[in-house]
Amino acid sequence: MGDRLDGKVAVITGAGSGMGRATAELFAEEGARVLVVDRWAERAEDAAGEIGDSASAFTADVSSGEDVQAMFNAAADRFGGVDIIYNNAGIGGPEGNARDCPEDVFDRIMATNLRGVWLGMKYGIPHLERAGGGSIISTASVAGISGLSGIVGYCGSKGGVIALTRAAAGEWAAKGIRINCICPGPITTRIGDDSQGPPDPERDAAWRERASVSTPLARSGEGIDIAEAALFLASDESSFMTGQAIVVDGGWTAVDRRWYDFSPTAYNPAGATS
Ligand SMILES: NC(=O)c1ccc[n+]([C@@H]2O[C@H](COP(=O)([O-])OP(=O)(O)OC[C@H]3O[C@@H](n4cnc5c(N)ncnc54)[C@H](O)[C@@H]3O)[C@@H](O)[C@H]2O)c1
Repeated sequence: MGDRLDGKVAVITGAGSGMGRATAELFAEEGARVLVVDRWAERAEDAAGEIGDSASAFTADVSSGEDVQAMFNAAADRFGGVDIIYNNAGIGGPEGNARDCPEDVFDRIMATNLRGVWLGMKYGIPHLERAGGGSIISTASVAGISGLSGIVGYCGSKGGVIALTRAAAGEWAAKGIRINCICPGPITTRIGDDSQGPPDPERDAAWRERASVSTPLARSGEGIDIAEAALFLASDESSFMTGQAIVVDGGWTAVDRRWYDFSPTAYNPAGATS
């Protein structure tokens, strides 16, 4: 237990699973009271129940303006205000290429990943103004930085989150509202799995295996890796940072692995065995 977020109220979307859930747990451990928001009531209730008294569950679809307003009002009613907003909910999965991606698939990705983040700013900022400032964090992705074939809509939505973050940061800095985003690399979560049963250990194992081969640090990221970055951005330790896209990806975007294929003698110069 720590005190880095003592007395703060955080609203976290997509907190019923994956990195949102890990962040809700960590924020509560650091003294925050947390509104655990998810589209699926059971996921939100399960996560909030596990955290205990400092958490409360709320069911909302982040692509709905009505739901997002109700979500912030619920946090204010239950906890007395809002200091930290983590716009984390997002969806991914197969889309088809730029020519073949169905319009409804593209629209659904944009509605959740980009419109959802903007709605979290639009309806969350008045609450942070009332609190005299605060921190907004959003989940972008390495897909917003690098072009990943087969998921062009997802890449577009995450590039949009980075641009939205930078533009909004300038608007609200003078009011003490800091706005940053995190760009995760491959993290073992339920992304792309809409089934409502328990998490699938075989799926997780396959993801970890693939990530360990493709990631310079030779492992998959876990929810806690992103939660630790979110904690830094939520806390006063990052008080001189706004408008930033923080990459947490095990080296994916920094190290171009094609160089290893091109120049085998450069492969693993440090003697790593993976
Ligand atoms: N897992 C990765 O490798 C990875 C990498 C980069 C970015 N991301 C991003 O991380 C964020 C969190 O995803 P995750 O990987 O933890 O996946 P996850 O599926 O485990 O968790 C996402 C949660 O968001 C919820 N959600 C989805 N749509 C919603 C909506 N419209 N309204 C409210 N809640 C909704 C889901 O029910 C789920 O519980 C997403 O924005 C995702 O795009 C994931």
